[in-house]
Amino acid sequence: MNKPHTPVLLEEFLNFFKDLKIKVFVDGTLGAGGHSLALLENHPEIEVLVCFDQDRHAIEIAKKRLKPFEEKIMVFEENYCEMHSQLKKHNLPKVDGILLDIGVSSMQLDQAERGFSFSKDGPLDMRMDQSCELTAAEIVNTWSEKELGEIFKEYGDVAKWRLAAKKIVEEREKKKFVTTKDLVNLLSPFLRKSSKKSIHPLTLVFQALRIAVNNELKVLGYSLPKMVPYLKAGGRLAVISFHSGEDRIVKNSFKSMCQKKSQIDGTSIKPIAQLLTKKPLGPSDEECKINPRARSAKMRVIEKV
Ligand SMILES: C[S@@+](CC[C@H](N)C(=O)[O-])C[C@H]1O[C@@H](n2cnc3c(N)ncnc32)[C@H](O)[C@@H]1O
Repeated sequence: MNKPHTPVLLEEFLNFFKDLKIKVFVDGTLGAGGHSLALLENHPEIEVLVCFDQDRHAIEIAKKRLKPFEEKIMVFEENYCEMHSQLKKHNLPKVDGILLDIGVSSMQLDQAERGFSFSKDGPLDMRMDQSCELTAAEIVNTWSEKELGEIFKEYGDVAKWRLAAKKIVEEREKKKFVTTKDLVNLLSPFLRKSSKKSIHPLTLVFQALRIAVNNELKVLGYSLPKMVPYLKAGGRLAVISFHSGEDRIVKNSFKSMCQKKSQIDGTSIKPIAQLLTKKPLGPSDEECKINPRARSAKMRVIEKV
C-alpha cells in the first residue's frame, strides 16, 4: 500500500475543537482517517465517532488505522449527503462537531486503476463510489462540447476550456477515449504549464472531470444546511475545500446561516450559527513544503448558536 493520505490543516482543525468536550463527532469524509485518528487521540472523552466515506477502499484503510478505537467508531459507506438521514435513523444524539475535508485523497490519486491522476495511466473512471454509473469516460465520450467547456471552466478554471472541449469532441469522432493516457496524449500539446509554480492545466482538467463525475458541488450545497440542525448549540462544523467553486458554496451557505433574516411582517429570524472564520484559513508555508497537495486548501468554521 502507498503511504496513506496526509491530513491537511490538521493543527488548525484540532485548534477549533480543543476547548470542546466532545461526546459525538461526525467525520463526513473519512479518507485514510487522519483527522479522525488525531481527534480521537486528543479527545479521550469521545464516546462515538460517526464516519462516512463513499469509497470502499478508503474505508478499509481507515478501519485498520482506527482499530485501537474500534469500539467508538461507526462507519457508513455512504455519501455524506445521507448524514442527516443516517443520524436520524440510528437515533444518534445531537453532535459536538462535524468535519468535511472534501475532494480527493492521495490514495485515490495514487491508484492508477481509479483514473484520478493524469500522471498515471489507467481507465478514465474517477468514481469515488464505484457503484455509481457515471464515469469520466462516459463524460468525455458523450457530453456535448458546450457541456464539456462548462465543466472545464466552472469546475477546473481551465484557461483554455473552449479549446480543450473542442479537441475532445473532434478526437472522439475518430476514436473513443478509454484511458487517462488517451486524454493526456490529446491535450498535453495544447495545455502546457505557464510557469514552474503554476498548477498544471491537465490537473485542472482532471479535477473538473472528477467534480462532475462525483457531482461534488451539488452534493456540498445540498448537504451543508441539512447537517447543521444536527449540531448541538456550541457544536462546530469545519469544512476544508480545495477548489474556488467549493469554497464559494461553503462561504455563501455559512453566510446565509449566520445572518439575521428579515420577514415580510417586519419580524426577523435569528441566525442559526455564527462564523468563527471571517476569512478562510489556509496552510502555512511549512505545510505546503511538506505536503504540496495542501497548497489550495481553505478551511471555514461555524458554531451553532
Ligand atoms: C481529502 S480525503 C479525506 C482525508 C481524511 N480527512 C484524512 O485525513 O485521511 C476525502 C475523502 O472524502 C471522500 N468523499 C468525497 N466526497 C464525498 C462524499 N460526498 N461523501 C462521502 N465521502 C466523500 C473521498 O472518497 C475521500 O476518501
